[in-house]
Amino acid sequence: MKSDNRPIGIFDSGIGGLTVANAIRKALPSESFVYFGDTAHLPYGDKSPDSIRSYAAGITRYLLSKKCKAIVIACNTASAHAFKTVVEICGKDFPVINVIDPVAVYTAEKFDQCQVGVIGTKGTIQSRLYVQRIEKLNPKLKVISNATPLLAPMIEEGFFNNSISRTIIRNYLERTNFRNIKAIILGCTHYPLIAKEIKEITGPHVEVIDSSKVVAAEVKAVLQSRGLIHNGAALPRHHFYVSDKTEAFERSTRIFFKEKIHLELVRLWDK
Ligand code: DGL
Repeated sequence: MKSDNRPIGIFDSGIGGLTVANAIRKALPSESFVYFGDTAHLPYGDKSPDSIRSYAAGITRYLLSKKCKAIVIACNTASAHAFKTVVEICGKDFPVINVIDPVAVYTAEKFDQCQVGVIGTKGTIQSRLYVQRIEKLNPKLKVISNATPLLAPMIEEGFFNNSISRTIIRNYLERTNFRNIKAIILGCTHYPLIAKEIKEITGPHVEVIDSSKVVAAEVKAVLQSRGLIHNGAALPRHHFYVSDKTEAFERSTRIFFKEKIHLELVRLWDK
């Protein structure tokens, strides 16, 4: 069997994308990866598309310099605004996986003739990419999207599974336009951590779509179809880089990756 032991490159605006890295680690336990969290520019949700494209370009070049065999954009906001930029830098034959398209396909295939909701950062929701992609794949679906900008910082501060988080989540989800949805897409890589709380509010008849699992399955399928899977002969090695390092970031990694991580500082934008 063909084997490729180069790492998978994964990046996000910060540490939220570690939920995707964790799902990839579960789906592909033999693979190594290089994670880059752009903590110096966090949050991406409020930045202009041009700025996000410029950050993503720098990170992509860095991941390519680390000999990555594929790149996963583990951030919805960067997927919405910088996917084309990343593909242009990598070349059209290089595997680049964003977090929006696999979820759009999953949703369009699974649901029909109903309404589905999407929540995410202002940048992701304003791009209207989820709406366009899903309604193009399945014109009988109606996609309703609402920006929920307080959720990512709330989670990063460790506020979840408590009365404050429940109040904020409930406030966002009880908007009238969400009343008849059959599914809700967690359009931000921080949100898997509040999936249970969301489910408690939406009830059993609304599927909560955790994009980290859908994306990990897509990464596996892409690597398999291109003969890029690692055969598992050596133990995987992961590296976690950030563009700004604080103790708080390192502490929060445990929330997102389920174990303590050592973050390495790389000042990509300094001369
Ligand atoms: N992880 C980012 C996303 O999925 C959200 C956080 C941010 O605004 O940078 O969109």
